[in-house]
Order: sequence, then structure tokens, then C-alpha cells
Amino acid sequence: MKIEPAAQLTGHVAVPGDKSISHRAVLLAAIGEGESVIRGFGRSADTEATVAAVRALGVEVEELAHDELSVQGVGLRGLRAGTVDCANAGTLMRLLAGVVAGQPGRFELTGDESLTSRPMERIAEPLRQMGAEVTTTDGHAPLVIEGSGSLRGLTYELPVASAQVKSAVLLAGVNAGGQTTVVEPAPTRDHTELMLESAGVPVRRGPTSITVQPAASLRLGEIDVPGDFSSAAPLLAAAALVPGSDLTIHDVGLNPRRTGLLDVLERMGAHLAIFNRRRAGREQIGDVQIQYSELGAVEVDAHEVPRLVDELPLVALLASHARGRSVVRGAAELRVKESDRIEAVTDGLRACGAKVQSREDGWTITGVPTRLRGGRVDARGDHRIAMLGAVTGLASREGVELEGADTVAISFPGFFELLDSVVRR
Ligand code: S3P
Repeated sequence: MKIEPAAQLTGHVAVPGDKSISHRAVLLAAIGEGESVIRGFGRSADTEATVAAVRALGVEVEELAHDELSVQGVGLRGLRAGTVDCANAGTLMRLLAGVVAGQPGRFELTGDESLTSRPMERIAEPLRQMGAEVTTTDGHAPLVIEGSGSLRGLTYELPVASAQVKSAVLLAGVNAGGQTTVVEPAPTRDHTELMLESAGVPVRRGPTSITVQPAASLRLGEIDVPGDFSSAAPLLAAAALVPGSDLTIHDVGLNPRRTGLLDVLERMGAHLAIFNRRRAGREQIGDVQIQYSELGAVEVDAHEVPRLVDELPLVALLASHARGRSVVRGAAELRVKESDRIEAVTDGLRACGAKVQSREDGWTITGVPTRLRGGRVDARGDHRIAMLGAVTGLASREGVELEGADTVAISFPGFFELLDSVVRR
């Protein structure tokens, strides 16, 4: 696909429902009591895999509308054992492992080529300590989990800052015999904790820890999913980079553990405003307006990384247009995402004329406040890299030839149509 340069981005849009929250809503509704209704469900290849997964384990899901689901929960230990194809979805595989660890039966979780090359011992290890039998394939999926009806509570210090690992342990903890505590090295997204609380699970939060008590049942009722900040991010980045832009994104999730990109943009000198701050259930939401302005260099360190982990490729692009030398450190986790995002970003941005150097744990970028030339970007089967390539093209002089554009459907199927509605050429 050829992405032509944009003259500006203007208008008002909304993005589909949050992927992280949509996965969690379906999984918790599946083990809830009775019917749950999920509104604003972010339909994408990843979240459809979660719907297919719970159906494969005996849960009835009815599609009330494109973005509305009704899920008939089977209770905390009512899933039917079986094999689940998690496709490309890391969140699905890791959270589901936690869910089934406390259910008697043999569960096999597999996925596509990318997912089966991602590290899974990080969840297998704590789940084993809780009493589940977990077998990985050389540290990867396929995973076989022999769930146990008598899991033990655990205090677990996360070796890596990962919301997926934290969530797997907490979800297993709901089915355990005693309390379970997870200690985080840095604050990661807390959608699981918030949703467990609203489902009636006793959750206690310390400065760096979360403790859940075992629950007799979960009751979600109705869930409103906010717009996905990570889907808004490429639009925000494009408007920040293309002179004359003025774009507002409505009803977007503003959970402070997801919005590190707003802080980074502010430090770079972007013109940002947030309106209509309110809540959707326990999640914060609002409207974000961004206007073009010239950007300056920025530094991002390990502690901040989890708050913008999926937006770091966009930070590298922003930094390529920001005067001076920018550094992103402490982001080695990017090497084990859907692709090695450190190398994918370095190769893609360099091919378009940017001065980017990979570090083991991030990048060093020398930016100039002018359009990049453009060139060819290979998405490498990774939706976030495809969206990065698209934004690079909009902000470039000559456009970008984007290889593998289709992969945006993993998280944001209508991405190109939404872009077209705000791009002026
Ligand atoms: C996610 C957590 C993050 C993030 C991923 C979604 C989640 O992964 O990169 O896109 O929904 O919990 P890690 O837990 O591996 O950091």
C-alpha cells in the first residue's frame, strides 16, 4: 500500500474500544455468574480470537451488535477443557493461562508463528508455584496446562514489568485457596485489577503491589469499554507531526497507566488539551485535542516504559522530527513483542531517512524538525509497525510504500478508513 504525504489532519473522530479491556471483559464475563453485556467492544482479529477461545471452552457469546456482546458466564470453574488457538494474541494466551490454571482439566493453548516464538515461561513459572501443571515447548507455546482445583495463593515479585504476567497471576489468584499478591517493578496497566474490583473481588492495592482474595463468584453485569488509547496514538502522532493539523479524539481511555505518550508529547512541546474528563465504570476517559507544533528532543527511561510500551515506536518517529538527540532506554521488552520492535523501527525509520540507532534496550535518535524523505517500511506482520509506517508516510515528503498493511486488523481493522476521514491532501 502506498501512503501519500498529508497536508494536514483535521476533524473529530472516535476510535474503537480498547483491546486490553475488551480481552479482559470477555474472559471475566466467561467465568462470571449469569449474563454480562459488553458495550463498546473493540472488535479486531485479536479480540475475536478471545471470543472464539471462550466459545471453544463452552461459553455462549451472542453478538448483539457490531460492538456489543452478551456473554453467558459458566462460573469460576465451569470452563470445558480443550484446545484453544490464541492466533496472534499475547494478551489472550497469557491471561487465559491464568484463568484455566484453577480449573480442573487439560487445556492446550497454541498460536500463530509470532505468538509461538514469544516467551511463556514468565507465566508458566508463577502458575506452577501456585500448583498448576504447566508445560511449555522450550519456553514457548504450545502450552499445556493441567489446571488444579486447589491452587495455592502466592506472593510473586514480577521479574519484568508486564501487565500480562501480573494479570495471569491475579486471575489464577481468584481461584486459589489463599490470598495472592503481585509486586511490580514499575506500574503497569491496571485494567484487570479495576475489572476484578467491579466484579466484586476483594482487591487491595499498595504502592507497588496488588493483592486479591479468592472469590466465590464474579458478577460483571454491564461493561462500557472506552476507546483504545493505543489506537488513538498513531492519529495523535500524525497530527503532532504534520504542520497545520488540529485533531480531536473523543471518548478515549485515559487510564494514567496507559497515557505515557501524552506526557512525552508534552515534554516535547506538543500542543495538547484534554476535555470532558469522566469515567466509564472504573476507567477514566475523555476527549484529547492535539495541534501541530515544533517538537524538541526527549528522554524516556525504564520506569516510564510500561505506561507507553505499545506507543514507543511512535515516540521514535516523533523524536526523528524533534530537534536534538533523543534517547529511549529500558525498553528491551520491545524485542519480544509481535516482532522485534527495536529492529523493526530502526530499519523502517532509517529506510525513510531518519537517523536512528538501536540500543540493546531502545534507541538513540538524532532529530531534525522537517519532513523525512519517505521510503519503504515492512510491517513484519506487526500491527503497531504497520501503523508506524502509515504515520511515517503521512508526515513524509515522498510517501511510504507499506509492506503488510493488512496486519493493522490485529488491533484496528478500520484504521486506514479512519485516517482517510481526517487527512487533507
Ligand atoms: C498488554 C500488556 C502489554 C502490552 C500489550 C497488552 C495487556 O504487554 O504490550 O499490548 O493487555 O495486558 P506486556 O504485559 O508483555 O508488557
